[in-house]
Amino acid sequence: MIISRSFRSRSAKRLVSQAVHCSFQQLNKYSLCLVLSLFLLVSVPSAQAQEQQVHPQSTKYEWPAEPAVKEKLENWRDQKFGMIIHWGLYAVPGMIESWALCSEDWITRDSTSNYDDFKKWYWGLKKDFNPVQFNPDQWAKAAKDAGMRYLVFTTKHHDGFCMFDTKETDFKITNGPFAGNPKANVAKHVFDAFRKQGLMIGAYFSKPDWHCPYYWWPMYATPDRNNNYDIRKHPWRWNKFKEYTYNQISELMHDYGSMDILWLDGGWVRPLETVTDEVRAWGAAIPAWSQDIDMPAIATMARKAQPGLLIVDRTVHGPYENYQTPEQRVPEKQLDHPWESCITLGDNWGYVPNDKLKSSSKVIHQLIEVVAKGGSLLLGVGPTPEGTLTEPVVQRLSEIGTWLKVNGAAIYNTRPIQGYQSGNVYFTQSKNTRSVYALALLEENAPIPATIEWSVNTPAKGAKMKLLSTGATVKYVVTGDKVKVTIPAAVQKAQSSYPALAFEFVVAGD
Ligand code: GLC
Repeated sequence: MIISRSFRSRSAKRLVSQAVHCSFQQLNKYSLCLVLSLFLLVSVPSAQAQEQQVHPQSTKYEWPAEPAVKEKLENWRDQKFGMIIHWGLYAVPGMIESWALCSEDWITRDSTSNYDDFKKWYWGLKKDFNPVQFNPDQWAKAAKDAGMRYLVFTTKHHDGFCMFDTKETDFKITNGPFAGNPKANVAKHVFDAFRKQGLMIGAYFSKPDWHCPYYWWPMYATPDRNNNYDIRKHPWRWNKFKEYTYNQISELMHDYGSMDILWLDGGWVRPLETVTDEVRAWGAAIPAWSQDIDMPAIATMARKAQPGLLIVDRTVHGPYENYQTPEQRVPEKQLDHPWESCITLGDNWGYVPNDKLKSSSKVIHQLIEVVAKGGSLLLGVGPTPEGTLTEPVVQRLSEIGTWLKVNGAAIYNTRPIQGYQSGNVYFTQSKNTRSVYALALLEENAPIPATIEWSVNTPAKGAKMKLLSTGATVKYVVTGDKVKVTIPAAVQKAQSSYPALAFEFVVAGD
C-alpha cells in the first residue's frame, strides 16, 4: 500500500491534536512547564501510514530445520489469535511509540522549539511514568476472554526504555517513580500473568536503540533511524552495541520464565548483504556499513535457554525469521508459509487518548480472512500510562471472545484449504479431522440474511451441515457448483445482527 503525502499529513494532524489534548489532560501530573515552554507539536503518521515506511511485505521464507523449532511453529500455527501490547514512555503523553524521536522527514514537526529540546523532554518522561494501577492480570484476563492464545509484549521499543529490569542501563521502569512497586519489573509480571492464563509468550524487542550511546552516539547528530556513526571507522562502538543487545536478550531469555517467541523489530538493523531491493523500497536511508548484530550468536544463546524458541527477525529472510509479519494489512492472497498480520485495534500501537477503535465485527472479519489465508492475527492494544486497558478496548475484546467461544472450531487448529474464498465466504479445514468450515462474513448492523451462498467446497453427497453458533443442522441445496444454505428463521430472529456465521461439513472427494 502506498501512503500518499496527503494521507500522511491528515493523520499527522489528528495526532497533533491528540498529543496536545493529552498534554493538557495531564497538566497537573506531568512536566507542564517543559511541555509548554517547548510548545512543541510533534506530528507523526498513524500506525497504518508507518507501514510503508517501516515494514512492507516480504515473500521469501525458509522453513526451520531444528525439530524443536518446527514443533513449536506447528503449535503456534494452531493458536491463530494473539495480543501485541505496546507499552512504554510514549504512553505518558499518549503519543506515537518512539518514532517522534526520529528525525526522518515523514515525521513532521511544527514547532518553535528544536529537536534537541524535544529529545530531552522525551527522555525525561521516565520521571513521570508511574503506572500505579498496573494490572497485568486484567490484561491477561481480557486477552483470554477475547479468545487470544498468545502474547507479544514490548520489553523495549526503539526509544530504548526498558520495561524489564535490565542490568545494562538505568533507562528502565525499575529505576524511576515505579521502582518501589512490587510489580516494578513490568515485563516479568506481564509474562507471568499471561502464562497463568495459558497463552504462549512472546517478547517484542527492538534491535535499534535510540537511547543507547553505542547506537546513537551523542557526539553526533541523529538524522535518521540508523546508528549515527560509520561502523567501519568505529568498530569498538558497534561491538559495544552488539554486546549490549546480546546481554539484554540474554537477560530476557534467562530470567523471565519460559519463552515461546522472540519478536525482533527494527528490520533496518541487519547485515548489509541482506539489504535487497525489497528493503530499499522502504525508502528509508541505508547506510554504507553493516548493522550486523550477529544473529547466529544471539539465536544460539536464546535457543539454548529456550529450546525450540521461535525467532521472528522481522523482514530479514532466512533462518531467524521463523514466520513473516505483514504489518497493518492482510496479504492479498493465501500464503503457503507461516505468517502473522499485526494490526492495531485502534489507529495506534500504543495508548493515544480517544483513539478510534475498530468494531469487534471488523476484527472478527479480519481474523477470518487472515486464518483462511493461512496466517494468524496479532491484535495491537496499548495500556494507559496508569497501567490499565480502557473500558472500550476491554469491551471490544470481550465481544470478539463471545463470537470465538461458539465459532472457534472454524479458527483454532485449522489449516488453509485450497479454495479459501468465495465472495464473502472464507474457508478453513480442521488440522485433525475431515471437517471443512465455511465462514460467511455478515454486514455490520444488518439483519442476518435468509440464505448464504458459495461456489467452492461443495459438501459431500448427503453430508450434514452444522451451524456452529447453535450446533443445529441446517438445510442446503447444491446446484452445479453452487451451495445455498438456508438460515433457520430462529437464528435470524434471535439477534439483530451477527459478525459471521460458521458452518461445518465434509467435502466431496475426501
Ligand atoms: C513497526 C514500527 C513499530 C511498531 C511495530 C509493530 O515496526 O516501527 O513502531 O512497534 O511496527 O508491528
